[in-house]
Amino acid sequence: MDNILGAIFQRRAVKVFEPVEISPVLREQILNAARHAPSSFNSQPYRFYWVESGAKRATVAKLCMGQKPAETASALVVAVADIGSLSATTQSQLEWMRASNFTQEKIRDYERTAKIGRILFMPGPFGIFGAIKWLAFWLLNLWRTSGMPPLFHRDLLKWAMKSTSLACENLMIAAEALGVNTCPMEGFDGRRLSRYLGLSRRYHDIVMVIAIGKKSRAFVEPPQWRRPLHATVTVL
Ligand SMILES: Cc1cc2nc3c(=O)[nH]c(=O)nc-3n(C[C@H](O)[C@H](O)[C@H](O)COP(=O)(O)O)c2cc1C
Repeated sequence: MDNILGAIFQRRAVKVFEPVEISPVLREQILNAARHAPSSFNSQPYRFYWVESGAKRATVAKLCMGQKPAETASALVVAVADIGSLSATTQSQLEWMRASNFTQEKIRDYERTAKIGRILFMPGPFGIFGAIKWLAFWLLNLWRTSGMPPLFHRDLLKWAMKSTSLACENLMIAAEALGVNTCPMEGFDGRRLSRYLGLSRRYHDIVMVIAIGKKSRAFVEPPQWRRPLHATVTVL
């Protein structure tokens, strides 16, 4: 626990890295920590592109506007919200449940929930289902508290971005705890980077690029400022 709090308080956005290699073992530990983050319905709606090979890293760094953290990092992780993975994830979890001898009842429950999720979350062609469902939920909300699920394509990507961001934070804290540093970046050319990675506009959205490496000795962090607790917290 001390280690976790230590990593949280110690982590800084590092802007210049030493040229060191990140071993495959370390890479796996960091990525494993990322995917252990909580996600909505445990759907894990993301894909991480770990870019470490010289030429590809240089291209991605250029698409991060040539920012110093990107140019000097040992690896660049492109964190992508991915709503195209949802049915494969459901199938994969079902296979895991069957192989782990879950009861038929539990498997049926999961299948039912997944089916409801599919109906709720699918916007349909031109968002037609989304509009119908929006109206149905709007009417339902008139007489009982029922909220509004992500109904349109844009809402769905936003929904996936929340879970992706949590995985990103896990990744950065794990990296820090394992002795490497990071810099999250949203300064990138999303259109060109998406094209470079072969992403689809329909299913993917790049949430951030995380530069990873060993902090350069020449880099001195500025003092860390945060808004006071009372300005960011309301205790009711
Ligand atoms: C979503 C997000 C986007 C960011 N984008 C950039 C970026 O493009 N370039 C950069 O140098 N730092 C970027 N940062 C780092 C922030 O500037 C940094 O986290 C903030 O100034 C606080 O500093 P600290 O993390 O060292 O406490 C980003 C951070 C976040 C969370």
